[in-house]
Amino acid sequence: MARLVIVSNRVTIGGKKGQAPGGLATALKDVLTPETIWFGWSGRRTEQSGRLTQHNSDGAQIIAMDLSEEDYKKFYIGFANRTLWPLMHYRPGLLQFDRSDYDGYLKVNHRFADALMSILQPDDIVWVHDYHFIPLAACLRQRNFAGRIGFYLHIPFAPPALFAVLPPGRALLSALCEYDHVGFQTEADLHHFRSCVRDILNYSINKDGVIFGPNRPCISSAIPVGIDTEGFAHMAAEAEHQAEAERLRESMGSKALILGVDRLDYSKGLPQRFSAYGRLLEKHPEHRQQVSLLQIAPKSRDDVKEYRDIKRQLDQLVGQINGQHADFDWVPLRYITRDMPRMVLAGFHRIARVGLVTPLRDGMNLVAKEFVAAQDPNDPGVLVLSRFAGAAAELQDALLINPFDPDEIADALHVALTMSLSERQARWRRMYETIRRNTASAWAQTCLQAATGSRRLTISPASRYHWQTDQRLEAQNEETTWPVRPAV
Ligand code: G6P
Repeated sequence: MARLVIVSNRVTIGGKKGQAPGGLATALKDVLTPETIWFGWSGRRTEQSGRLTQHNSDGAQIIAMDLSEEDYKKFYIGFANRTLWPLMHYRPGLLQFDRSDYDGYLKVNHRFADALMSILQPDDIVWVHDYHFIPLAACLRQRNFAGRIGFYLHIPFAPPALFAVLPPGRALLSALCEYDHVGFQTEADLHHFRSCVRDILNYSINKDGVIFGPNRPCISSAIPVGIDTEGFAHMAAEAEHQAEAERLRESMGSKALILGVDRLDYSKGLPQRFSAYGRLLEKHPEHRQQVSLLQIAPKSRDDVKEYRDIKRQLDQLVGQINGQHADFDWVPLRYITRDMPRMVLAGFHRIARVGLVTPLRDGMNLVAKEFVAAQDPNDPGVLVLSRFAGAAAELQDALLINPFDPDEIADALHVALTMSLSERQARWRRMYETIRRNTASAWAQTCLQAATGSRRLTISPASRYHWQTDQRLEAQNEETTWPVRPAV
């Protein structure tokens, strides 16, 4: 029987903090079986790359590889997080490119391919996640693996004019076309990818979006990742009565809680968010003493200079805002840079009046969906959401804002804080229905079906995406349309 082999940079080893891929593990839980193999980096930096360790987890067999300090620096810090990450998040000004980092990135992909070849069976299905492993299918093909390989990009895909900046852009694009299926978060990302393939590689793409490169057809589609909506809703309802949520509620008194939960990353728009909160208190003084913003921003990638810079900038801003607005009995902005258990966060979401999710650019932003899932249907909070988060395509009933404009965010906060119960309920109901339908489990099944080629994906304006069964890839002339949503 075909086994599923998942590859991602982060793997969960014994539930160890700091190594868990968090959202991804939750999203994949329904497709994991005891036969599934999950392959990734052990999180350890050792003298030499390549040592493999095996770990048992609830859902799958984990196989993890150590990386040498040099590979960690070039592959993870360098090319993945100082080149690809800023480029794909539309920040070419932050992009640093060094050929030796790229060589290190390729080297680690080849190492992973070597290790995978020692465990792969011919009919295994390989599912590769995220920007760390774009060349992996090409590396496996070089080693004569002929089975099905799917890829999912969790972050945005840059439009052609930006992608053109990337020195090895051509090579990475053609490497993506070595997958049987590549999945993206939004129609806009998909459109950018296809435009790059057409403009830069000159490959033909048929009406179904199948790309015809020199070696194999590659199906491309937008399959937005979801969450375990009902599971998260139950967790939040329970967590609301646990000690941490009770303590938070007590500390708030009658004040309204505005909540932000983000990895501490420059893509999350935190400086603009903090300034917007300051603007709210200036423009709408009636909210002074009546609200509190709790920002939870666990530190991340602090070996990358740009992450240390944003941390310093935020520390300063928090001081300025509290210095200007705080009173002896009121701290307007509470700021925490440690990680918190998922369950505690679920309880915090539930008691928040406003969820503030304002990335400058984000692949999906599952926190936006978690906020919606966590709400009390009788008294739901309001989501203020960036137009440039992938989640905005689905959560149109949030208050959508331009995250570059602190005044617009401040105005939306005011609207959210004064919104009637009936409007809050109507908006929440529509958003909840959307995320209840598009769950993590449906996402994983859809991606895997696309990768195994047993079914063909078509997009219809009514359902956004659905499967047509029993049709063959060769039926290229049929009128199937791919309505491309305007890039956000
Ligand atoms: C994003 C990426 C993931 C990554 C996560 C945490 O969500 O899409 O691939 O694992 O950030 O970043 P880190 O660098 O700590 O793994």
